[in-house]
Amino acid sequence: MKARPIKNGIQWMGAIDWNRRLFDSLIPLPDGTSYNAYLIQGSEKTALIDSVDPAMEHILMAQLDGIPDIHYIVSHHAEQDHSGAIPAVLRKYPGAQVLCTPKAKEMLIDHLGIAAGRIRTVEDDETISLGDKTLKFVHTPWVHWPETMVTYLPEDKILFTCDFFGSHLATSDLYAGGNPFVAEAAKRYYAEIMMPFRKAIQNNLKKISGLKFDLIAPSHGPIYDNPDYILNEYRNWVSDRVSNLAIIAYISMHGSTQIMVDHLMNSLTQRNVKVQKFDLSVTDLGKLAISLVDAATIVIGTPTVHFGPHPSVFSATNLANALRPKLKHAAIIGSYGWGTKAAEQISALIPNLTVEVLGSVLCKGLPRETDLAALDALADKIKEKHARL
Ligand code: FEO
Repeated sequence: MKARPIKNGIQWMGAIDWNRRLFDSLIPLPDGTSYNAYLIQGSEKTALIDSVDPAMEHILMAQLDGIPDIHYIVSHHAEQDHSGAIPAVLRKYPGAQVLCTPKAKEMLIDHLGIAAGRIRTVEDDETISLGDKTLKFVHTPWVHWPETMVTYLPEDKILFTCDFFGSHLATSDLYAGGNPFVAEAAKRYYAEIMMPFRKAIQNNLKKISGLKFDLIAPSHGPIYDNPDYILNEYRNWVSDRVSNLAIIAYISMHGSTQIMVDHLMNSLTQRNVKVQKFDLSVTDLGKLAISLVDAATIVIGTPTVHFGPHPSVFSATNLANALRPKLKHAAIIGSYGWGTKAAEQISALIPNLTVEVLGSVLCKGLPRETDLAALDALADKIKEKHARL
């Protein structure tokens, strides 16, 4: 992909990674991703905003062919998918300086071995002139690491945000427009990357609220040409509001837990509680994460394996704990062969979730009438709690 013009003196650069399917060896990327860099040529100086993943460094370097000088490389975030090609850009432009937060300076030295002398730190609200264009830096920690910042370009009304507002989406579209795929990809991205830092994002949204911009240019996914759309979505996602939605995340080995899950799902839907069911043996964990953005309740369903939860349930529960969703309530259901400590072990896995535990329904072997009645009672309790939201 060649560089693409955005406005006078401003170009999109970077790489579309159509085939990447996993990020951080953990996060599924069903629709690929992009690593966006941006070139800003002022009347006196030139700046490059972020770089690309090292695997695609050659694409950025080819786009920079014919660019005679770069004075500044703005590093919003030290994670390698944005900073990984900075050493190559520094080699090509020996006079270039990296601009970043003080915390990012340490990280760029630690993770990429960039010489301290090539890095200039910028303070919150500091500005640097490129001549007829100005870079204004706003420190926005925890989107997605503690060192992150965004850059505002007032003359062109663009906010460059790196991971903040990004979406893992490979597309040839430069702008998001009204593309529904962007809506899903941005929510998935928020769920997987940003959700643990919800409170910090609330503060960061306030910090940028005084800036006037027509474009939000993130470093993953297309540029938002209707910034209010993604801003409103973020305000909803980071709010304390939850929906009348119960998630059932479960696995079944011989069918007993499946019977319980199906019974509870029917019982909840009869009580007008919306349900999303995820069989962890086949589900895309990103879809589960998306549901966790709004859900009020999670029900974890597990058979017992050697007295504890099934390993896939263990792993998904651990992930939900790490993502720190807004969940208000939790419950555990499942079947065991001869004895179980599943409820105790699952409860110990979720210290970050400030949930009210509504109880557990665990049965030996196939569920009997009394077990199904206990699931109906659990559905009553969930309905009553959701009515108070
Ligand atoms: Fe896209 Fe946190 O890196």
